[in-house]
Amino acid sequence: MKIDNSTIILTGATGGIGQAIAQALSKQGANLVLIGRNKKRLAALKQALPNQDKHAVIEADITSKEGLNAINEWVRSNTKINALINNAGSNDFSLLTDRRQAQITDEIQLNLIAPILLCQSSLSWLAQPGVILNIGSTFGSIGFPGYTSYCAAKAGLHRFTEALDRELYATGIRALYLAPRATETSLNSDAVNEMNRQLGNKTDSPQVVAKHVITMLEKEISAKWIGWPEKLFARINQLLPSLVSSAIRKQQDTIHQYINRVSH
Ligand SMILES: NC(=O)c1ccc[n+]([C@@H]2O[C@H](COP(=O)([O-])OP(=O)(O)OC[C@H]3O[C@@H](n4cnc5c(N)ncnc54)[C@H](OP(=O)(O)O)[C@@H]3O)[C@@H](O)[C@H]2O)c1
Repeated sequence: MKIDNSTIILTGATGGIGQAIAQALSKQGANLVLIGRNKKRLAALKQALPNQDKHAVIEADITSKEGLNAINEWVRSNTKINALINNAGSNDFSLLTDRRQAQITDEIQLNLIAPILLCQSSLSWLAQPGVILNIGSTFGSIGFPGYTSYCAAKAGLHRFTEALDRELYATGIRALYLAPRATETSLNSDAVNEMNRQLGNKTDSPQVVAKHVITMLEKEISAKWIGWPEKLFARINQLLPSLVSSAIRKQQDTIHQYINRVSH
């Protein structure tokens, strides 16, 4: 797609990766519709972007019916949308046994159900040609201790995007999936950052993710995994999961040490 002068909806706009995507897209001339739950943070982001008058904000909790309705109503009374980026997300790093049921359902709701419902609505308002980009995670391809329901949600989002892209073949609308690895945002607690350092897991800046977003939109690449060796592990986990299990087993003590630090 051509980003200059396009109109793009971005969820999770006020987060670490969202802000970097908003900066990168607005520098390329996009008109943005920024979505988040916090009015002040949305207003501050809009003000910090180039050509701030070209952008709009919608205060909406995308896990609620009211939030989804607010987005659909805004689109109906405004303009055609060229792209939707489902970027809002969150996770808890804890053992499944230590979680309340509400934590699990909230995680699935935000990371999987809300983007699916937004994709469904977008099919009635996206321009043709148009693009949907769903932001997943390396954990959508590799089950990792402490992130069980997040892994489930992101794996679901990956398969959903693949199925939707195939379903939409020849309609002019593409559905794409981008899987970042660990990225420096407030999504990750200090304990998680320390664990990543100790395990030798590399971390990207949000600007790196934003660059991949631009490339994916421009080239309409179906799916992309950021980082080496993460993209290799994602493949190996599909073909030979026992190899990845034994690598993670060696890290088990360290991982559990940090899970305990977060939950106690
Ligand atoms: N950071 C990483 O290490 C990493 C790695 C791989 C993938 N990812 C994925 O990248 C995406 C962005 O993550 P991030 O690191 O930028 O996280 P972040 O800094 O915590 O930002 C999360 C964003 O989601 C929004 N949000 C949360 N709950 C919402 C809700 N119910 N309704 C509407 N918006 C909501 C937040 O806005 P408000 O709180 O203001 O509503 C915020 O803008 C997520 O999908 C995440 O899973 C992140």
